Amino acid sequence: MNKKAILYGSSGGNTEMVAKQVQDLFNGEADIFNVLEVSLDEIVPYPYLIIGTSTTGVGDLQDDWEGFLPYFSKMDFTGKTVALFALGDSASYSTSFAESMKVVYDELVDKVRIVGQTPDEGYTYDDSMALVDGMFVGLPIDEDNEYDMTAERLERWVEKLKEEFV
Ligand SMILES: Cc1cc2nc3c(=O)[nH]c(=O)nc-3n(C[C@H](O)[C@H](O)[C@H](O)COP(=O)(O)O)c2cc1C
Repeated sequence: MNKKAILYGSSGGNTEMVAKQVQDLFNGEADIFNVLEVSLDEIVPYPYLIIGTSTTGVGDLQDDWEGFLPYFSKMDFTGKTVALFALGDSASYSTSFAESMKVVYDELVDKVRIVGQTPDEGYTYDDSMALVDGMFVGLPIDEDNEYDMTAERLERWVEKLKEEFV
């Protein structure tokens, strides 16, 4: 078993695709689960969790995460480290860009060590509640407008996570 698990919820497939790219960047040394199908028992053994969700409304979590988060957040997070990423659309939803990861962040921030915060340099948007102290609480990815930047953003982020996940 790998020590890292990627948990994603995806309505249209973008988050799923990005989750698989993250898995590739860890050279396959991460297991991947769709929150629609996973059970808490499967996740408990992993010390490192990477959580991916799309934003499907102003400040709204992706539907499958909406159902899963109330159970997930009650898990025993002792000894675990979590990183977050969120898909969003910075053009059509410029005032609520990638906010879904903040919903997960708010549930977990008092329970677990969260890593992988990202500066907002290089993103074009008007507002997002996913910022804390001027940093995104995780990695925003915009497949709708900035798909050509996804590979570079993910590479940089995963390199950082490799240093944190020790
Ligand atoms: C109904 C709807 C509402 C959305 N609301 C937001 C939003 O508030 N903020 C944002 O950044 N993106 C928003 N998006 C864009 C999606 O997050 C984006 O297209 C994402 O790539 C979808 O990922 P998925 O295919 O994994 O579901 C919304 C998309 C839809 C369809």
